Amino acid sequence: MAEPDIKKGLAGVVVDYTAVSKVNPDTNSLLYRGYPVQELAATQPVEAVAHLLWTGELPSEDQLSTLRRTERENRALQPDVKAAIDLIPLDAHPMDEVRTAVSVIGARETRGTLNVMDAVGTPQENLERSIRLFGELPAIVAYSQRRRRGLEPVEARDDLDYAANFLWLTFGEEADEVVVDAFNRSMILYAEHSFNASTFTARVITSTLSDLYSAVVGAIGALKGPLHGGANEAVLHIFDEIGSAENVTPWLDTALAEKRKIMGFGHRVYKRGDSRVPTMKAALDTLVAHYDRPDVAALYDALESEFVARKGIYPNLDYPSGPAYNLIGFDTLTFTPLFVAARVVGWTAHIMEQQASNALIRPLSAYNGPDERHIEGYVPDTSAI
Ligand code: CMC
Repeated sequence: MAEPDIKKGLAGVVVDYTAVSKVNPDTNSLLYRGYPVQELAATQPVEAVAHLLWTGELPSEDQLSTLRRTERENRALQPDVKAAIDLIPLDAHPMDEVRTAVSVIGARETRGTLNVMDAVGTPQENLERSIRLFGELPAIVAYSQRRRRGLEPVEARDDLDYAANFLWLTFGEEADEVVVDAFNRSMILYAEHSFNASTFTARVITSTLSDLYSAVVGAIGALKGPLHGGANEAVLHIFDEIGSAENVTPWLDTALAEKRKIMGFGHRVYKRGDSRVPTMKAALDTLVAHYDRPDVAALYDALESEFVARKGIYPNLDYPSGPAYNLIGFDTLTFTPLFVAARVVGWTAHIMEQQASNALIRPLSAYNGPDERHIEGYVPDTSAI
């Protein structure tokens, strides 16, 4: 029998169409619904980009205020979610808290749909669920960090935009404009990236006609892994290990001799550089200047230039975003939950797209286990035949 043509990790396999975003490794570009992501990051609030990803168009002023109203109405940390998070041990990973929180929200929001066919919801219901979830996640991520620091949650502020409120919820003080701007850009850059592992997970779950929350919970599980979302926190562990720019060469000698993967570098699709990095690096530069931390920039540049020169592997978005989040004051453990809060927009856009033209995702496998064999002494019952 001919050997099946297996594409390990589905590398290079095109599984479906999407109109949500286009990743083009040849031109190093990323388009959200046609717009270059760097243009969106430079000009738009994350709420407008969410509207674009969900509906296909940037919002009018009226549409933006409608979306913002719903987002603001859902900013509070709900008691059911807080109670569930409080049950989780403090030394569990915060991604476990976020995953659990979304599960609780899902049970709350789809209550009464005991016939599984009803939980799927209409396109309008799913758009509304997406906006509400987007609105609810910052309080969860912020509380997770505050709880770890022994702090009480802070009341959401409905006079602040999404990014500024997120920082307020986390730190309990208003952030400077330059920080809000860098954070807003990072949220936009993280919002969507076509058929990455977590988005594909969400689409697989959606394809069974399961509900939006179940798909997001599965996506969070996929994002937790260090080969995907977990890389941004792994970058900070590397920075901590290296310490300062002078140590890069000996550290890299050892790491490469041990065949370690250097987190924050490499990408399945981009082989000549991640299209999002220049925008996030520029945001990091503004934070380096704001917090007066040239040492961070020196370490960043030294590791990048030496690793690229030695391996020809370029940084991905997690490389500049890790140190940026660190400078803003987020705990390293909060980095991947921040990715969730941003990527929930892309996930839900894909969930709605999958629902609109669904086909059950069910690939084949090639069996390479033992040949057929039988239980010793077993005599088939032929009486019923
Ligand atoms: N450090 C050291 N070597 C690497 C790295 C790296 N970061 N990335 C790739 N390589 C090497 C790898 O060892 C392999 O070498 P060889 O051919 O000698 O065995 C070669 O490059 C091909 O790597 P691969 O892992 O087979 O390629 P891939 O397309 O499957 O990998 C990747 C993509 C992201 C899994 C990988 O580059 C990696 O593990 N990077 C570190 C983790 C990371 O930063 N992940 C974030 C990805 S971007 C954000 C997101 O989408 O979530």
